Amino acid sequence: MSLVEPMPEIDAVVVVDSLSVTFPSDEGAAEVVRGVSFSVGKGQRIGLVGESGSGKSLTARAIMQLIPSPGTVSAGEIRVAGNSAALSTSNAPQWRGTTVAMITQDPLSSLNPLVRIGVQITEMLRHHLNYTRTQARARAVELLSAVGIPNPPRTLRQFPSVLSGGMRQRVALAIAISCNPSLLIADEPTTALDVTIQAQVLDLLEEMSATHHSAVLLISHDLGVVANFCDEILVMYAGRIVESGPTDQLIEDPLHPYTTALLTSVPSMTEALPERLASIAGSPPVGGVAVKGCAFAPRCALAQPECFEDEPVLRQLDVSVRRVACHAAGNATWPRRFQGPS
Ligand SMILES: Nc1ncnc2c1ncn2[C@@H]1O[C@H](COP(=O)(O)OP(=O)(O)OP(=O)(O)O)[C@@H](O)[C@H]1O
Ligand code: SF4
Ligand SMILES: [Mg+2]
Repeated sequence: MSLVEPMPEIDAVVVVDSLSVTFPSDEGAAEVVRGVSFSVGKGQRIGLVGESGSGKSLTARAIMQLIPSPGTVSAGEIRVAGNSAALSTSNAPQWRGTTVAMITQDPLSSLNPLVRIGVQITEMLRHHLNYTRTQARARAVELLSAVGIPNPPRTLRQFPSVLSGGMRQRVALAIAISCNPSLLIADEPTTALDVTIQAQVLDLLEEMSATHHSAVLLISHDLGVVANFCDEILVMYAGRIVESGPTDQLIEDPLHPYTTALLTSVPSMTEALPERLASIAGSPPVGGVAVKGCAFAPRCALAQPECFEDEPVLRQLDVSVRRVACHAAGNATWPRRFQGPS
């Protein structure tokens, strides 16, 4: 059975259809991302949220064809800028770093510690945009200046290890935006930074997206950060998207009990909630372990016996653009009390 209803076609930078990521484990194949489908339109800002281990980073890495061995990726399709991406190739796809670029939570992992920052930026420009050495250096100074590095010429001569976390993240952002990507994937770009620097990095992302009309896929476990930045939100739980929709609608009227529970952990957003859960008691299933029925059922205040039997499909609700994977959503007669496993 398909876990997702088909999506309408849109003019998209990236289309992901039925993406799954599997790792071998002692108990057999662990499918840690399952049937994930979404698309990112030109210039759109999409947020991907969910608890630790829900599959956010692997979804991003699968798009970038960066799943480490022995992991495997399967998908109906991953389409980048209108072209289907080959799933089984050991070569870096041509669009990585150019059409689609990514920055991660730990900028050291995306910077080469043994290579001066200047070389790392100018190589991107020379390789992908055919800049001359002089042009590339001038552009590198411009880029470092644009991301708020105080003394670009000095930074170009330095190695990543001498910079603070905030400065490294700025350098990673400068490299990521150097080729004006159509989509920037930012995987927890602010988690390791202090609050002031976090705000500055988000401002930079916003400016970059506005100036170059780049789309952004912002990954975070913090719904507050994502809600402030994105037009649309995808909520992941146990490897699946369980709800998606425009930010204002999803925040004001969450359809999935897990989204409701996530919202309670964002104090400034709890005021308008129609129904509250005190906290998300319990923990998600261990990554990739097959669960019968709805993976959220053991933690869900609305669970009924059928939730422990049948896994809800991610379906579009009525004529709206919202999608939800929950038996109770849109069902006015659904009991409001927890039944527990039968
Ligand atoms: N290399 C790997 N081998 C086996 N399992 C993995 C591997 N990488 C990730 N996983 C598992 O896949 C699941 C999803 O991992 P992922 O890193 O995508 O989560 P995440 O949502 O990004 O979490 P976080 O918020 O902590 O970054 C987790 O259960 C994790 O244990
Ligand atoms: S399907 Fe059932 S258990 Fe799952 S979120 Fe909906 S009500 Fe809760
Ligand atoms: Mg992650």
